[in-house]
Amino acid sequence: MLELKVDLGDRSYPIFIGSDILSNPNYFHPYITGKSVAIVTNETVAPLYLELIRSILADYNLTVVTLPDGEQYKNLETLNLIFDKLLQARHTRKTTLIALGGGVVGDMTGFAAACYQRGVDFIQVPTTLLSQVDSSVGGKTGVNHALGKNMIGAFYQPNAVVIDTATLSTLPDRELSAGLAEVIKYGLICDPAFYEWLQENVERLMSRDPEALSYAIHRSCQDKARVVEADEKESGIRAILNLGHTFGHAIETHAGYGVWLHGEAVAAGMVMVADLSFREGKLCKEDVDGLVALLESVRLPTQPPSGISPDRFIELMAVDKKVLDGQLRLVLLDSVGSATVTDNFNPANLMDCLEQFCS
Ligand code: NAD
Ligand code: GLY
Repeated sequence: MLELKVDLGDRSYPIFIGSDILSNPNYFHPYITGKSVAIVTNETVAPLYLELIRSILADYNLTVVTLPDGEQYKNLETLNLIFDKLLQARHTRKTTLIALGGGVVGDMTGFAAACYQRGVDFIQVPTTLLSQVDSSVGGKTGVNHALGKNMIGAFYQPNAVVIDTATLSTLPDRELSAGLAEVIKYGLICDPAFYEWLQENVERLMSRDPEALSYAIHRSCQDKARVVEADEKESGIRAILNLGHTFGHAIETHAGYGVWLHGEAVAAGMVMVADLSFREGKLCKEDVDGLVALLESVRLPTQPPSGISPDRFIELMAVDKKVLDGQLRLVLLDSVGSATVTDNFNPANLMDCLEQFCS
């Protein structure tokens, strides 16, 4: 069992990382405030893991909300299904929500917790690699809008994050790869030693070696926690966690939510950022090629889908949350292990980059 803390003053919380811990009350009961609990999950995860958690909640007034599965349901309409159930079952401000699922369930449950009766407690129980290394930590919650990814939401921290690595045994290969995109991201933005470790341990990760996965999850959460502690509401440094996301969100929105997995879009976006950083004279060619090789070795895409034009990219990137006073800002790499958010890049280099990847 590994334990980390996200240190945010009175909003601090633990991250527990272990195997087969979903039916252990010690990781849940101290973080449930009242006598009522609502587990929010989806139709894929419920048959796999709901009973494990339910078994330790016999003494609570329990509601289960089972949502349809998919990024295309991460919207206000689906969020309302959570509110309907909570109100029908008379949940009060003292209820605690438990998000059991991947990043879609986690982001929506967190946002529901932020809004329901102006805020109730919640616990993150992430069951995909991506949600275990990224979305469950740091308090970004929300839903998509037809015009942009994650455009409606709130910063709202959980009471605890309970990561059961045994849940990864049922995760489809494609989802495992998508999660590795965010793992690689940490190496690129702030942890060069971890990046080297990832290059050396790709095969162990792809074969789901439990020790390697557990190490990667722990290290990723540690890296993320440090960035979130420095800048909880993204007024500065936290934006580096969005490496590749400006291009990636444009790909997801263009393709239609759910067609490209979030991690896949981020992978292609990170290569585009690396290319632009090279054009800006920041990153060397070997590092760009090394990133492409690493992403290919975990079976992730390294270019955007065909059919998206440079103009469409620019149009979609204009609604990115990092845009400030109409000015596009991007996370660029200074080297492997160091990133900065900046609006100081040559627009001609951006156009050359887009034209190369869209040709
Ligand atoms: P997801 O939630 O759609 O889960 C992927 C698929 O795996 C789904 O079909 C899900 O039902 C299934 N699944 C979940 N756990 C499983 C298990 N243990 N076994 C078998 N199947 C399982 O996708 P995701 O990759 O977890 O999350 C992506 C979402 O997270 C995106 O909406 C993205 O915007 C968001 N995100 C948020 C943050 C943040 O900081 N809040 C960070 C990164 C990504
Ligand atoms: N995934 C980006 C962030 O949490 O800030």
